[in-house]
Amino acid sequence: MNNSSVNEKEPKHIAIIMDGNGRWARNKGRPRASGHQAGFRTTRDIVEACARRRIEALTLFAFSSENWARPANEVGLLMDLFLRGLKSEVGKLHENGVRIRFIGERSAFSSKLQQEMMAAEDKTKANSGLKLAIAVNYGGRWDIVSAAKTLAKKVKEGQIDVDDINIELFSQHVSLNDVGEPDLFIRTGGEMRISNYLLWHLAYTELYFTDVLYPDFNEQELDNSIAFYSGRQRRFGKTGDQVSKTDA
Ligand code: IPE
Ligand code: IPE
Ligand code: MG
Repeated sequence: MNNSSVNEKEPKHIAIIMDGNGRWARNKGRPRASGHQAGFRTTRDIVEACARRRIEALTLFAFSSENWARPANEVGLLMDLFLRGLKSEVGKLHENGVRIRFIGERSAFSSKLQQEMMAAEDKTKANSGLKLAIAVNYGGRWDIVSAAKTLAKKVKEGQIDVDDINIELFSQHVSLNDVGEPDLFIRTGGEMRISNYLLWHLAYTELYFTDVLYPDFNEQELDNSIAFYSGRQRRFGKTGDQVSKTDA
C-alpha cells in the first residue's frame, strides 16, 4: 500500500491564515485592536482544540512580511499583543506538552521580543505534544530565497555539488523542515488567496476557505474544516481509480 496516496482522514498538520479580525471589530463598531484581542482568544482555543485532537502540527500565520505596511499604531499594537501573549501563554502551553517554534525573519523584531521567542522555543523544545509553529514576519518568497541562499553558500564552500540540489534537499532548507507539509490549509475571513504564506509547502495541501471571520472561528468550525479534509481524495497526480485501489 502506498501511504502517500491514502487520505489519512484526519489531517496531521494544519496551517491557518487567521484573517478577518479587523472586519469583525468593524462589524461591531469597535476599534481594530479589539478584533486582534478577540483573535488572540480564538488562537488560544484552537491550539487547545488541536492538542486535544492529537493533531501533530499546527502552523499559524500571525504577522506577514507585508503587514509592516499597516499603520504604525496597529503594528505596535500587534507587537504588544504578541509579547504579552508570549508571556501569559507559554507556561500553560509547556504544561500541555506543546513545542513552540517561530518561523520568519525575526531580526526585524525588538530584542525583547526576540529574547521571548528564543526563551519560549528553548523552554518547550523537548516537548512531544503538538508542534506549534507561529509565522511572524514570514513570507513564502522569503522562505524560498533563504533556502536558495543557504544552498548557494554550501555550494560555494564545497559542502555540496550543484547537482545535489533537488526537491528533497531544497525541502530540508525551508522552514518547517522537521514537520513537513500541511495536509490541510484553512483561511478564515472570506478571501481566497494565499497572501505569500507557505508557498513551497502548499503544493499538495487541501485548501479550505471559510467566510467566518477569525474571532468567530471555533471548535465547531475547526471540525467542519477537518470534515472537509476527510472528504477529499488526495490523488497526488494519480487517477481516482488508482488511489481507491491502493486505499482498499
Ligand atoms: C488578520 O486579521 C490579523 C493580521 C493580519 C495580523 P486582519 O487584521 O487582516 O483583519 P481584516 O482582514 O482587516 O478584517
Ligand atoms: C494575511 O492576512 C496575513 C495574516 C493573517 C497574518 P492579510 O489580511 O494581511 O492578507 P491580505 O493583505 O488581505 O492579502
Ligand atoms: Mg486581513
